[in-house]
Amino acid sequence: MSQVDVMSVDDIPPGSMVRVEVKGQPVCLANVDGTLHALHDTCTHGMASLSAGWFDPDMGRVECPRHGAYFRLEDGAAITPPATASVPVFPVEVRDGRVLIGTVPNIPHPFDTP
Ligand code: FES
Repeated sequence: MSQVDVMSVDDIPPGSMVRVEVKGQPVCLANVDGTLHALHDTCTHGMASLSAGWFDPDMGRVECPRHGAYFRLEDGAAITPPATASVPVFPVEVRDGRVLIGTVPNIPHPFDTP
């Protein structure tokens, strides 16, 4: 697995969420009390950007801005309708003050075309 350096950890303080690109894939990166989570940024119900939604660090979830589905940051699970499919998650770590996101070959997303 290779990793992509996306930013300084200082640029994503606890309670914040940003959109980054990892080898052409949009990724929603969120900081929950110092633990970083990276999940595919595209909602599985429609073509909405999760990082443009609402982040609830206390509940560890993000709300899609389009129709309000909640996704769990830890594993990408869709926890409320109208979304029913999980979003893929990416491995993330901090090393020497940099945020590194792992690239996973063939990571599936429901909107991927064969
Ligand atoms: S596009 Fe996200 S809930 Fe509909």
